Amino acid sequence: SLSVPNVQALAASLDASTPIPERYVRPAKLYPISPTNQIELPVIDLAKLIHPAFSKEEAAKLHSACQHWSFFQLVNHGVPDELIEGLKADTIEFFNKPLEEKMEYKLGSDGALQGYGQAFVKSDEQKLDWSDLLYVMTRPIALRNMKFWPTSPSTFRDNIERYSLELTKVASYLWQYISKNLGVATEVFEQIFKDHPQGLRFNYYPPCPESDKVIGISPHSDPTGFSILLQINDVQGLQIRKDGEWIAVSALPNSFIVNLGDITEVLSNGLYKSIEHRGMINTEKERISLVAFHGPDNSLMVEPLAEIIGNGKPNFGSMNYQEFMKVFFDRKLDGKSMVDMLRV
Ligand code: SIN
Ligand code: FE2
Repeated sequence: SLSVPNVQALAASLDASTPIPERYVRPAKLYPISPTNQIELPVIDLAKLIHPAFSKEEAAKLHSACQHWSFFQLVNHGVPDELIEGLKADTIEFFNKPLEEKMEYKLGSDGALQGYGQAFVKSDEQKLDWSDLLYVMTRPIALRNMKFWPTSPSTFRDNIERYSLELTKVASYLWQYISKNLGVATEVFEQIFKDHPQGLRFNYYPPCPESDKVIGISPHSDPTGFSILLQINDVQGLQIRKDGEWIAVSALPNSFIVNLGDITEVLSNGLYKSIEHRGMINTEKERISLVAFHGPDNSLMVEPLAEIIGNGKPNFGSMNYQEFMKVFFDRKLDGKSMVDMLRV
């Protein structure tokens, strides 16, 4: 794999008079950017969703959010504040450690995709994202590689473990209501998402003096069932592409932002869609986020569910999930190219 600079270190070395390296400079106005176009995502209340008296109404809201937005905020999710605050503090402390210390967890050093560094660097020519990341697989437990789990701060591993377990509970609830909303037996989804494959990606977006020229994370949809995002510090920067327009979204304090991924789009035969999103950069402040990917079991054949197609026709072909992920990781991040590849 190609080696590129650590972006946090690069950003720290720039002063106002140094131009940023060409490899990070994006063509201006790739898409209409509407920084004023700030919207509130639909809000789904998990406590209501699981409460017999409110469930029906909240499930209808969830269905509408999945159909029209593919993105929603989740509140009353039950993950303790104390855990979230601890994990946030650990994450900030980790990224603020000296580079040599973070490099002990260097990404790809065992040929895998876990670790600290820059992902999706596929050629010397491509434009680079203005971010570093730490990626760890958390579930199934057999796929963990503890070598990539930072031992410092001392509470980090334990908080990652607890957070992983809490999000597994949240994810099971969401699968349950998503499958009901799609009219598919819960057992079908339980089978697909058994063992709760889950990976955590901590994103670090350094400030950039010319923030309007760079992108923190390139436009992409997630190759997941769904992803659950937590803002680690209070700097916003997520944009979603809704009806062709880029819109900035912000999160309520300690809410999760949930977005549907490509697997859900294909399984639902396009009833629900994954949508493109990207991470933008702040001129003065660093931004840190944490995405928890929830994917299917490795054995899944990615294709529309028979229960959903019924007598209709499939909008997508099939591909084994392992092959799907191999293709995903062989590319640079590129819009909805995975879904487009399977479309018939
Ligand atoms: C992502 O799409 O994986 C990251 C988005 C974010 O940092 O807000
Ligand atoms: Fe994403």
